[in-house]
Amino acid sequence: MNDRFLRACRRETVDRTPVWIMRQAGRYLPEYRDLRKRVDFLDLCRTPDLAAEATLQPLQRFPLDAAILFSDILLPLDAFGIPMTFSPGPKIAEPVRTRAQVDSLVARPAAEAVPFVAEAIRMVRRDLGDRAPLIGFCGAPFTLAAYLVQGEGKEGFGAVKQLMFREPATLEALLEKLSVAMSDYLRLQIQAGAQAVQIFDSWAGILGLADYERFALPFVKSIVASVRDLNVPVIYFVNGGPHLIEAASRAGSDVLGVCWRTPLDQVAARVRPTLALQGNLDPHVLFADAAVIRGRVSGILDSVAGRPGHIMNLGHGILPETPIESVKTMIETVQAYPVMSAAHA
Ligand code: CP3
Repeated sequence: MNDRFLRACRRETVDRTPVWIMRQAGRYLPEYRDLRKRVDFLDLCRTPDLAAEATLQPLQRFPLDAAILFSDILLPLDAFGIPMTFSPGPKIAEPVRTRAQVDSLVARPAAEAVPFVAEAIRMVRRDLGDRAPLIGFCGAPFTLAAYLVQGEGKEGFGAVKQLMFREPATLEALLEKLSVAMSDYLRLQIQAGAQAVQIFDSWAGILGLADYERFALPFVKSIVASVRDLNVPVIYFVNGGPHLIEAASRAGSDVLGVCWRTPLDQVAARVRPTLALQGNLDPHVLFADAAVIRGRVSGILDSVAGRPGHIMNLGHGILPETPIESVKTMIETVQAYPVMSAAHA
């Protein structure tokens, strides 16, 4: 069993640093683009054998140390009956902006609303065998609310911040409902076979520290606490949040995933030593030549060498235009990194 990813999450000794890539199944892969020519994105997510195929595509090509379920953070909002489309980003026909809308949201159990996710997980586990563990995931409540209130992805997400200042109690009521639904959704994934879970807080960085501590962190904490009894590692990824690192380190997760903006040794100095770290190569580095990629990847590994618990990853999702060769170079650099210097317990 290739368990170096799970071991690193728990800060146990590893033979080398594990590596996987956020958004590793996606448009930079020609085989994914081929699949998408035949199937619409939402149908792909909702059809277990196709979602399983997309999940496994990057692992057929690269010796990655973890798989991540092919789905999207907005998919479980099916449970609330919120209609959406993707083109390619999410679009929500009726953004949620009033107290009446929030009060009318009732989540069905994830097992009823998104049974295809559990089925896809069972299929992936069967096909993966011992090659690598499978990560399940969900969006953090504030990040999901940013999309739900705005109605689409938009830099700055003005609508959710307006609601936060105009009607804070309405936003809190929405965040509470999302947090309960995401706990149920992660439990479904873990019970179906996900061996670790990641909570994506892609838009937490638009909040100042005090607002993060009120409108983002508590709802993540409650999700983490609600899956603790299931005994799988929890990764909390915060994007764009160099000012949020100390606060985010208190979410209760086993691993903190950080964006590319802060050097990893500085992150390490700002959190407790018992928190494993994931990241954090700038995705744009993969547009550089191989020597630069090798240098940047080694630099990150050097910066936390000797600190137990590091998972190599990008500092945000891989970009669709990324050359495949660069991904290979990144992974090979991690694999070739001298074992003696890798993070050891
Ligand atoms: O390989 C994997 O990581 C698993 C699959 C995965 C997708 N989305 C597939 C996807 C995961 C983990 C996500 C998470 C996700 N989705 C996040 C958090 C991570 C992040 O990047 O911050 C967010 C914010 C979303 C919302 C979302 N979905 C956006 C903004 C977009 C459009 C932008 C883009 O990358 O195209 C999507 C669509 C989406 N999700 C695609 C994929 C492969 C592209 C859809 C297509 O094939 O046309």
